[in-house]
Amino acid sequence: MGGKVLKLGVLISGRGSNLQSIIDHIEAGKIPAEIKVVVSDKKEAYGLERARRHSIEALFIDPNSFSTREEFEKAVGDELEKREVELICLAGFMRILSPYFVNRFRNRIINIHPALLPSFPGLHGQKQAVDYGVKISGCTVHFVNEDVDAGPIIIQAAVPVFDDDDEDSLAARILKYEHKIYPMAIKLIAEGRVKIEGRKVIVKAEKKEWAVVNPPLEI
Ligand code: GRF
Repeated sequence: MGGKVLKLGVLISGRGSNLQSIIDHIEAGKIPAEIKVVVSDKKEAYGLERARRHSIEALFIDPNSFSTREEFEKAVGDELEKREVELICLAGFMRILSPYFVNRFRNRIINIHPALLPSFPGLHGQKQAVDYGVKISGCTVHFVNEDVDAGPIIIQAAVPVFDDDDEDSLAARILKYEHKIYPMAIKLIAEGRVKIEGRKVIVKAEKKEWAVVNPPLEI
């Protein structure tokens, strides 16, 4: 009752569907969190509009108005700190953060990636999965460290990859679960159920055994 509310900052570059899902889960009372600010490095990012529609402060910070990446990141970090943000959620933020930023907010930055890490890091995770021919892919929420898409993993969802999938159809299947596991990861952190131990994240949650098998088992 009246417990602590985790203060979030969400960094975006584009359409912001994950941002929208986080907003919806917060508004539905499912996560004890509050978005203090949304920051975009792209002026035209639709996510800025989504934030404003929900009366959330939305800032465009132009990377081109700074001479170095660190100066840009310092400006972003200052805005987040001004609003006492406790957890930074990267939601389609298309920039690699420097060690400066990662250090400044050590263990307080999370990201969502559209593949089952450590498979298919970097850009176009869904296309990489289709091209490789895996039968199962999915999405991952992880803490951000100095290496790209390589920080400790909090939660993953697996989906089948069908023979007739292309990048877009697989991306759409994965996105449905992005919209579930990102809010779930934030809920786990907000409720104090997440602990980082070296490379691993220990999560206080129910233990359930099950499998996605593709093609499905017939024996
Ligand atoms: C998602 O696929 C996410 O996994 C990746 O970038 C995309 C962002 O989509 N990091 P949206 O802006 O949240 O709709």
